[in-house]
Amino acid sequence: MTKIQNKSDPIVRTSHLPLIDLASSTDIPFCKSIVDELAKLGYEIPDPTGKAWLAESRYKGSERIIFESGITQVIELGAGFTPHSLNMPKVKYIEVDFPETIKAKKKIVSKINPLRKVTYISGEIFEDSTWEKIQKHLVKRPTVVFCEGFMQYTNPQKRKYLTKKILPIIQGGGIWFFEDSLTFHPEFSNISELRALSERMKRISKNKQLTNYITQEDLTKELESYGLNIQRKPSFNEISSPDYSQEGKIVLGNFKNWILTGS
Ligand SMILES: C[S@@+](CC[C@H](N)C(=O)[O-])C[C@H]1O[C@@H](n2cnc3c(N)ncnc32)[C@H](O)[C@@H]1O
Repeated sequence: MTKIQNKSDPIVRTSHLPLIDLASSTDIPFCKSIVDELAKLGYEIPDPTGKAWLAESRYKGSERIIFESGITQVIELGAGFTPHSLNMPKVKYIEVDFPETIKAKKKIVSKINPLRKVTYISGEIFEDSTWEKIQKHLVKRPTVVFCEGFMQYTNPQKRKYLTKKILPIIQGGGIWFFEDSLTFHPEFSNISELRALSERMKRISKNKQLTNYITQEDLTKELESYGLNIQRKPSFNEISSPDYSQEGKIVLGNFKNWILTGS
């Protein structure tokens, strides 16, 4: 998918794909500039999926949750090339991803806004050493941990690992949240266009978990069994992308963010 050398998990090849959708038809600032810079770095830029509403909803939904929480220290896991740090300039921002992605992201963001200070952590999220690096950059204040386009690639063992690492960080007024996804809604899996989106990302990432559907009820039980309190918040649906279809409205009408705290 990209010309860069992929030494990490093949999932790293998905890093820039949601951004291409966001740049194609949404009003989110900096997406187009980042895509242009990626092209200069030799990344292949495939055609957008025509379903930018999906990435737009989660992107804007995340910024709304962070803004409403009033929390100013944020960790974005599997950040890829999202422009959140540029669009939330007042937040103390920490991004985690594989080294190839972090190297390119750092270069691009510092070119777009040389004054924006972001802490970049290169590493495998499911390794303790990465969390040790994150810890070193945290200041003692409430923290948001969030991820977009990431949790649908995890299995129960990985979700349990994340809980163990994130719970101590969000103690004292913090939250962990992620968007709802097609993987957590088996009822949409027989809609061919939506299924095709998951199959495409499964093929590129070589991660089969995407179509290992889990129901809302089962995911709720699983997360509660790890000692998490769950709050649900309807997904963001004020979509600017002209590809926001009737089908999109049905999907987003059923999606709710997962907002987690310690019980
Ligand atoms: C589908 S992309 C989403 C990127 C971005 N969050 C977005 O919404 O545009 C998934 C991202 O998670 C990163 N990722 C997945 N598993 C990871 C892991 N175990 N360690 C570090 N990064 C990981 C990938 O490299 C990729 O950038």
